[in-house]
Amino acid sequence: MAHDLLGDFKAYSLAGTEREVRFITSVLNLPTGAAILDLYCGYGRHAIELAKLGYQIKGVDGTQDFLDIALQKAKEAHVDIDFLQCDMRLLSFYQQFDAVINMFAAFGYFSDQENADVIKLVAQSLRPSGLFLIDLLNRDWMVRNNLNRYWRHPNGEYVLSYKVELQNGIATMKRQLINQVTGNKIQYEFVLRAYSLPEMTNILANSGFKILAAYGGFDGRTYSAETPRMIILAEKE
Ligand SMILES: C[S@@+](CC[C@H](N)C(=O)[O-])C[C@H]1O[C@@H](n2cnc3c(N)ncnc32)[C@H](O)[C@@H]1O
Repeated sequence: MAHDLLGDFKAYSLAGTEREVRFITSVLNLPTGAAILDLYCGYGRHAIELAKLGYQIKGVDGTQDFLDIALQKAKEAHVDIDFLQCDMRLLSFYQQFDAVINMFAAFGYFSDQENADVIKLVAQSLRPSGLFLIDLLNRDWMVRNNLNRYWRHPNGEYVLSYKVELQNGIATMKRQLINQVTGNKIQYEFVLRAYSLPEMTNILANSGFKILAAYGGFDGRTYSAETPRMIILAEKE
């Protein structure tokens, strides 16, 4: 997440997290006390809000620094969350969770085979009829749309130029931040395997998942070519 400056300043805002958590709880529709795995929980923003609502949360991330922050924030929020540092390719849970959530494009880091194997491990982690909510970017929408943003930051007014290139399913996100006070520019690139809905349907089916819904945003709209996100709700058959 350190690579994601847009996220640090905007997308990871409290209001954004609250909206996402409302969406998660509404589509999962699980009773209080249900066991949820937040797969690649980052700073724990969803994990902590879900724990406050009475869910039993386990948060897994590959980056210990993020987990340290998550643990500190959980303490401050007086919630008890079990955080674990683990590469998602090495998940070793067995029928332990009522739901697994994977939020904010935290998927697609590895080879196609490894990514598909991760979904198998997610299936293995879930109880029968368990739910998997995976929140991905709509790759085609990102390529077509101008994602430039502008916002105020205490250090200066930032303009973000943001360009996504897609080749053979690999999305290269090129970002440039310009601080208009100092003139400083920061450029960085982030590469992710971005799957289409038919590809994800296939990967999920191969791990025994049935798709229940595909949403295009946290407002619950239906996924289409015109929606910025591709959020899939699947059930373990
Ligand atoms: C975009 S963040 C999303 C985090 C969280 N779900 C959220 O919405 O705030 C992706 C997370 O994946 C983790 N991650 C990314 N690439 C990784 C890798 N190759 N190995 C382990 N963890 C990785 C990062 O630590 C980060 O927390």
